[in-house]
Amino acid sequence: MPKRLFFLLHILVHVIPAFFIFLLYQAAINGKLGGEPVEAIIHFLGIGALRLLLLTLVISPLARLRGFGPLNRLRRPLGLWCFTWAALHFIAWLWLDLALDWALIGGELVKRTYIVVGFLCLIILFALALTSLPALMRRLGKKWKRLHAWIYPASLLACLHFWWSLKSGWIEPAIYLALFCFLLALRKKKLANALPW
Ligand code: HEM
Repeated sequence: MPKRLFFLLHILVHVIPAFFIFLLYQAAINGKLGGEPVEAIIHFLGIGALRLLLLTLVISPLARLRGFGPLNRLRRPLGLWCFTWAALHFIAWLWLDLALDWALIGGELVKRTYIVVGFLCLIILFALALTSLPALMRRLGKKWKRLHAWIYPASLLACLHFWWSLKSGWIEPAIYLALFCFLLALRKKKLANALPW
């Protein structure tokens, strides 16, 4: 893969997610988010986090193509951006939707399964983001790979969270779930070797 192309992709991986957050901020402060701005913010950040998560999973099958190995180095920044978007999505819910009312937040966690599922996904993403620091990567050694295989349960949880958060309709989350299953199928050999049975 030409060095220049890799350099350009590396820049885009940072610039595009940052630019969309900037656009969201601009739209919010200029009152251009429609009648339900808080919902619009939560949805925009949630769907963005899910797309970034699946995009992270697209990288390694592409990197297997001859000459495209360096693409693997884009997984870390993409994963970190995914966590950033997911954390902002969570903060928007806590702060803008529930006004940091802890009793209300506790009630939502008990009442709504999709919130618990999103929470579990966010905890996994947090652990993955934290352990992607080079010092921790070195310290974890072989365990690091096993820990980072948690990206698969996290992606499944994110798809289920999306599905269960909808009051009606299922086609869009079904498309994301199908894409996730396809990305898993591309790794069927690797996953079969990793299973303990
Ligand atoms: C504690 C963690 C989380 C909380 C509290 C949370 C909360 C929410 C809420 C309140 C909604 C809107 C539901 C509605 O329409 O009424 C939502 C939607 C969504 N969330 Fe989360 N979420 C969390 C984590 C995540 C994570 C980690 C991801 C992805 C990586 C994610 C992706 C989505 C998606 C894709 C939607 C649907 C957006 C749409 O309808 O366009 N969420 N979430």
